[in-house]
Amino acid sequence: MIYLRTIAARVLALLICLVAANAVADDVASIESPGALLRVTLAINGEGRVSYRVDRKGQPVVGDSRLGFILADAPKLERNFIVVDSSSRSVDDTWEQPWGERRFVRDRHNELRVRLREAKAPVPAPAARELTIVFRVFDDGLGLRYEFPEQAALREVNITDELTEFDLIGAETAWWIPAGEWNRYEYLYNRTRASEVGQAHTPITFRRADGLHLAVHEAALVDYSAMWLRRVEGTRFKAMLSPAAEGARVKRTAPFTTPWRTLQIADRAAGLYMSSDLILNLNEPNVLGDVSWVKPHKYVGIWWSLHLDTESWASGPRHGATTTNARRYIDFAAANGFRSVLIEGWNRGWEADWFANGDSFSFTEPYPDFDLEGLAAYARKKGVHLMGHHETSGFASHYEAQLGAALDQSARLGIEAIKTGYVADAGGAKFQDADGSVRFEWHDGQAMSRHHLKVVTEAAKRRIAINPHEPIKDTGLRRTYPNWVAREGARGMEYNAWGVPPNPPEHEANLFFTRMLSGPMDFTPGVLSLKGRNGQPFQSTIAKQLALYLVVYSPIQMAADLPENYARFPGPFQFIKEVPVDWQETFVLDGEVGDFVTVARKDRASEDWYVGGVTDEIARTLTVPLEFLTAGKRYRAHVYRDGTDASWDRNPFAIIIEKRDVKRGDRLELRVASAGLGVDW
Ligand code: NOJ
Ligand code: CA
Repeated sequence: MIYLRTIAARVLALLICLVAANAVADDVASIESPGALLRVTLAINGEGRVSYRVDRKGQPVVGDSRLGFILADAPKLERNFIVVDSSSRSVDDTWEQPWGERRFVRDRHNELRVRLREAKAPVPAPAARELTIVFRVFDDGLGLRYEFPEQAALREVNITDELTEFDLIGAETAWWIPAGEWNRYEYLYNRTRASEVGQAHTPITFRRADGLHLAVHEAALVDYSAMWLRRVEGTRFKAMLSPAAEGARVKRTAPFTTPWRTLQIADRAAGLYMSSDLILNLNEPNVLGDVSWVKPHKYVGIWWSLHLDTESWASGPRHGATTTNARRYIDFAAANGFRSVLIEGWNRGWEADWFANGDSFSFTEPYPDFDLEGLAAYARKKGVHLMGHHETSGFASHYEAQLGAALDQSARLGIEAIKTGYVADAGGAKFQDADGSVRFEWHDGQAMSRHHLKVVTEAAKRRIAINPHEPIKDTGLRRTYPNWVAREGARGMEYNAWGVPPNPPEHEANLFFTRMLSGPMDFTPGVLSLKGRNGQPFQSTIAKQLALYLVVYSPIQMAADLPENYARFPGPFQFIKEVPVDWQETFVLDGEVGDFVTVARKDRASEDWYVGGVTDEIARTLTVPLEFLTAGKRYRAHVYRDGTDASWDRNPFAIIIEKRDVKRGDRLELRVASAGLGVDW
């Protein structure tokens, strides 16, 4: 069965706007978004240098911005261009997600494709070279990418630098994390003036003085280096490709296309999250066919105790992954309706300094005190599944060498999903070649983009889902490979165990408008005990732990706390047991980047709606207009909200659980105490 069902597909008339170069400045082609909100214009200047700009409602959003490449072994591809031809088309297509924030996604855009050729062959190239630039323009943003056609003059393409610029007119404030630093994506978000950004990962979010919100990211990062964004001057930014261990940052053979460089544009912060559909729309449809074996679900596991350091990954007296302990978690999962049980530290290799010992990991051999076969059978009997765990410490090729055997074994044991891990400093992803030579790559360079897709596609052959930690960033590839269910790629719950500092109250209100624009995150919410290592308190209320199931979307969500802690909080735990992980529809009701957000999601399997809200260190009253409910229907709201005297630093456990009868048109006013709330009805 093909799971992605196209319910409407239309290709409308060609829309071409070719303007003679000498008539209106240097503009050579332009295209509008379907609702005429955005216009993208391509220009060529006197030296044949190509640039683009973006206007919204007639006002500039992206000023004249360069395009092109620096190549390692050929003259740069930037000047001397003329337009060979240009075409456009309109698409209005709605497709069905196998799982996601919403069931149906509308892809409505106009595409402009401009074929460029150098006016004369550059010295020492043998002939003039060609490059095609493609824009897809939606009403809430755009994607642009390059196509390197097959051509004798440029077969092996060795890219040292991509020259794509984003001159973000009027960008005032930026929310960003640094790129090219040791901790991959696990930084607290900076809020600075846009003109003070250094080198940032994407998604990066901007706000202008007029309230317009922008986010720069990329879509369909396949066999290419990730794009970082480096500020050039003022609020002009440029693509900076993640480095390679050796030579050019990207090595490809033409023909090929680059990832899409994306810009999301919204009047309000809330609209920015909604515009992320364009990231999915710019990815290729599902290539896996029937993916009904990818099961959105909630899981528990031997995990939080390891981060609290009360149990260990390594074997020995504190070993967490023992047969007895695993049976306890399986029983807990079965009793409370969790589909799977993650068990970390089950396999050989965790001794000593495992951060540095990726070569000692076996991905098939359990520790002697962990009866893998027996536990898989026990789980099966109880109606639950083991979740695999493959920590590589970043030694990617060591993992690849065992990948087939490890996945075969996992499939045989009924494992439906595997959490992988790449704990190594950025730039420390290790590859050993057949001749024994070793290379250290960036976590988001071309080598790792290939590695991750290899793991995902090999897993798909065995009907296994993949959830990498310390991953490459999400660029919407879940559309093409729906078994790539989630990833980490930001500071998650673990920082509340041992982070210095732990996650601050504003963290999730930052994540929602930055990291979460890219796709699902395995944040591992639901630690109701609110204490990290050595009793260090969280900067969260208990209600916020519930709200995270709605605010931080993932089709697989952990109930991350210890079973004995859930026994202490049966009321809030009831919400964790009930909250769905797969949605029919999602609406962002309100929010400001880094301040607060309220989001409403409709269960994919019922008529129930859920609303989650989080705030930062400032208590607020969040208004929830119930416009999304069906008219004429009665609903009962189960409200889990901060107690009237709750606050994250003085009274985090105060929670009110109550029921209210509501209907469409009602408004809920809910006080949130530097924390969050969860409502379902
Ligand atoms: C880091 C991951 O984020 C965490 O969830 C995991 O427990 C450790 N690595 C060990 O793999
Ligand atoms: Ca991590």
